[in-house]
Amino acid sequence: MSLRVAILISGGGSNMMALTRSMRGDHPARPCLVLSNVPGAGGLAKAEGLGIATAVVDHRPFAGDRAAFEAALHRSLSDHAPDILCLAGFMRILTSDFVRGWEGRILNIHPSLLPRYKGLHTHARAIEAGDAEAGCTVHQVTDALDDGPILGQARVPLLPGDTPERLAERILPMEHALYPMVLRRFASGDRQPVYLP
Ligand code: GAR
Repeated sequence: MSLRVAILISGGGSNMMALTRSMRGDHPARPCLVLSNVPGAGGLAKAEGLGIATAVVDHRPFAGDRAAFEAALHRSLSDHAPDILCLAGFMRILTSDFVRGWEGRILNIHPSLLPRYKGLHTHARAIEAGDAEAGCTVHQVTDALDDGPILGQARVPLLPGDTPERLAERILPMEHALYPMVLRRFASGDRQPVYLP
C-alpha cells in the first residue's frame, strides 16, 4: 500500500509538480490531494490537469481566526486521509495545535540554508549579508517557524551581481531536485539528511 501525500500550495506549484512527477513506479508514496489557501492559485489547475484531487481552503473569510481556518484545513485534509503533508510554497504559518495533529508527518521546503534566514525575503537577506552561498532546505515542521529537523539541503554559490530574482532562478531547480529526493527517503523511513550537490 502506497503512502498518501497531500501537497499544500499557495502559488504556482512548481515544487508540487516536481513532487507529483516523482511519485510513480516503485516510489513508496502517491499524491492524494493538492490543497491551496489561495483560490485560483496556478498550481491548482496544474494538479487538475494531472488528475489529482484539489481543494481550496481560503484563509480570508476566517478574518484572522487561525483556529477556525486550521479546523477547516484539518477537515479538508482528513477527507483524503493523507499520511504525509508536504508544504510546497504554502505561505501560511501553522500553529502548534495544527502541527500537533499531524506530528512528525509534515515536511516543508524553505528557500534558504536553515537555520539562516527563517521567514521571508531569504535571497535578499543572503545577498545583503554578503554570504558566499545560498540554497534551500527541506525540514520536518514543528511549531517553531522554519525550524525542525533538517532532512536535506542544496546549496549554490552566490555570484557577483546576484539579485534576489537571479538567485531564485538558480535555487528553484535545486528545490525541484531536493524535495522529491527527501520525500522518497522520508516515505521509506529514512530521516538522515541529504546534501546536494
Ligand atoms: C519556493 O521557492 C519555496 O521554497 C518557497 O516558495 C516558493 C514556491 O514556489 N517557500 C517559502 O518561501 C516558504 N516560506 P512554487 O509554488 O513554484 O513551488
